[in-house]
Amino acid sequence: MRDYLDLLKNANKDAIRARRTDTATRLAQPKKGFLRFREPYEALQHLRARFTDFSKDAVTIGRAEELADADRSLVHESMRAFMPWRKGPFDVFGVEIDAEWQSWRKWNRLLPALPDLTGKTVADIGCNNGYYMFRMLEHKPRCVVGLEPFLQHYYCFKTLRHLAGAEELFIELMGVEDIPLFPSCFDVVFLMGIIYHRISPVEMLREIRATMQPGGVLIIESQAIPGEAPVALFPEERYAKVPGTYFVPTANCLRNWLIRTGFAEVEIFCSHSMNSKEQRKTAWMTFESYEDFIDPDNPALTVEGYPAPLRVFLRAVNP
Ligand SMILES: C[S@@+](CC[C@H](N)C(=O)[O-])C[C@H]1O[C@@H](n2cnc3c(N)ncnc32)[C@H](O)[C@@H]1O
Repeated sequence: MRDYLDLLKNANKDAIRARRTDTATRLAQPKKGFLRFREPYEALQHLRARFTDFSKDAVTIGRAEELADADRSLVHESMRAFMPWRKGPFDVFGVEIDAEWQSWRKWNRLLPALPDLTGKTVADIGCNNGYYMFRMLEHKPRCVVGLEPFLQHYYCFKTLRHLAGAEELFIELMGVEDIPLFPSCFDVVFLMGIIYHRISPVEMLREIRATMQPGGVLIIESQAIPGEAPVALFPEERYAKVPGTYFVPTANCLRNWLIRTGFAEVEIFCSHSMNSKEQRKTAWMTFESYEDFIDPDNPALTVEGYPAPLRVFLRAVNP
């Protein structure tokens, strides 16, 4: 398998390779928490899709008729092992995976602001199962590197990538805090659904800018509160039932964070309210979802009484 590090002149390759070795040693241990995701990944290594289509709402990897019944059952069983599915949909050898989020809606919203990805080196920070990375393939990037610290999503992505034979896509079991390992590396960075989970959002933006090439483009998507004032909500404990939520900015506040960290050409290109059609419980994600997070008597408020979230999209350039 190709290593994208051979393409990145400035990456701290020794440190990244040392991290990979540590990760591999750790994950090789026969611990229950590792095996529950490693085994379904390993179980499908003999399969490779003949047909793929990344241009449709559902990322399609293989057709049902490519597999005998036993392998189709194995695919179904392995995909169930990666529940709950947050991002999707996917169609994997005819197994239709209806994830909690209809992620194609987010992808369609960012398309008008998408820079040309042809031949570009791209990072997707907090890539989850790689839904957007697969959608990027249609735009012919040189490579896309996903950073994702959670094992469930890491192995889910690795399984899908293997089945799809998607050689331009890579993942590291890392978080945004590891981004300083990649100085001046990326032409395009996606940071979607992350910033409100960071205790120091401005510091993070500064570190992200340092990973970008001059002229590189950042696409950022975030939960936001309504309003024109450049302020952020800081919940006492949870926001829309989610712990680990720190600053929820207005779109203008996020814009100012980007300007103050040195980004140029900052543009708010989309803002929309949320609803329980776009984020909902499905057969592949059976826990609480959007409608449980919102005041049943007033959809403008979260269950805690805070303003209900908007989603906002910004584009910015590293000058
Ligand atoms: C709200 S989801 C957003 C997923 C995807 N980027 C999207 O926009 O649909 C947040 C993702 O960030 C991942 N994550 C959690 N901690 C992180 C960290 N420290 N650095 C990067 N990603 C992280 C989560 O596992 C999850 O996949």
